[in-house]
Amino acid sequence: MNENPMVPDLAVPDGFDGGRTLSGVASTGRVVTPGEIDVSHGPILYLEDVTVSFDGFRALNALSLSIDVGELRCIIGPNGAGKTTMMDVITGKTAPDSGKVFLGQTIDLTRMNEPSIARAGIGRKFQKPTVFEQHPVWENLELAMKADKGWWASLRARLDREAQARIEETLALIRLESEARRLAGELSHGQKQRLEIGMLLMQQPALLLLDEPAAGMTDDETMELAVLLNKLRGTCSMMVVEHDMEFVAALAGDAGRVTVMAEGHVLAHGALDEVKRDERVVESYLGR
Ligand SMILES: Nc1ncnc2c1ncn2[C@@H]1O[C@H](COP(=O)(O)OP(=O)(O)OP(=O)(O)O)[C@@H](O)[C@H]1O
Ligand SMILES: [Mg+2]
Repeated sequence: MNENPMVPDLAVPDGFDGGRTLSGVASTGRVVTPGEIDVSHGPILYLEDVTVSFDGFRALNALSLSIDVGELRCIIGPNGAGKTTMMDVITGKTAPDSGKVFLGQTIDLTRMNEPSIARAGIGRKFQKPTVFEQHPVWENLELAMKADKGWWASLRARLDREAQARIEETLALIRLESEARRLAGELSHGQKQRLEIGMLLMQQPALLLLDEPAAGMTDDETMELAVLLNKLRGTCSMMVVEHDMEFVAALAGDAGRVTVMAEGHVLAHGALDEVKRDERVVESYLGR
């Protein structure tokens, strides 16, 4: 089954409003249109003192962090540190016990459900690729775009020129031009992962969350993915959770900031070289 709320099931559900309103914020009486993310005074994503408990165990323990607009932030940390749980909280899959989670300065994600959060501009890439295997690569991108445009595009029998140009642009970016007519199910693992990122991009997300995108990839595929994410830098903000340190180095470079999580909170934060020398980081993660 399709577990990614940003990737549409093929049927448009009853009452689907094409993403024009965010029903999840109805409780506040506000209607937010997609793209209306206020970042005039600060970060694209802001977490403060977020705590999540599972049967008394604190998977997130007063976690605070923020991502700047256009930033590509790598998050590293040992198994069980709470990295995936953090993404579950941001995307509305898991409700925090306490704490603040904001998209921009005004959108309170803790008051919204998963589809509303996706429509507000947060795209999530799960570890396992979720593409429509029985459909050609091109159609996968087309379907992903329709989820964005909603009722409007699904009524149109033919793609307009602008839409075609966007699909072609995305195909070039994810380097799958020559595979456009092949069934997605025939692609290699690395190609499927790039296709799914392309599908997320068709919805023009403000923030992309990628959980271990390089897992299971060959070295070449991993480096190709790093090239792609580096190209996206600046067009959307990204949070990348990854264990592969070479991949992290390819993304973070010298200047990029890396956040190290352990035991549900931020253990260290800074340039990759700095955090690699941090004794606590070596002890809890790198030195294992
Ligand atoms: N639904 C759940 N119910 C109970 N415990 C959970 C649940 N989800 C996560 N946990 C626990 O919370 C802790 C954090 O898990 P999480 O998956 O967020 O870690 P992670 O940093 O993503 O680890 P990894 O690097 O292995 O993916 C773990 O101890 C995990 O067993
Ligand atoms: Mg995880």
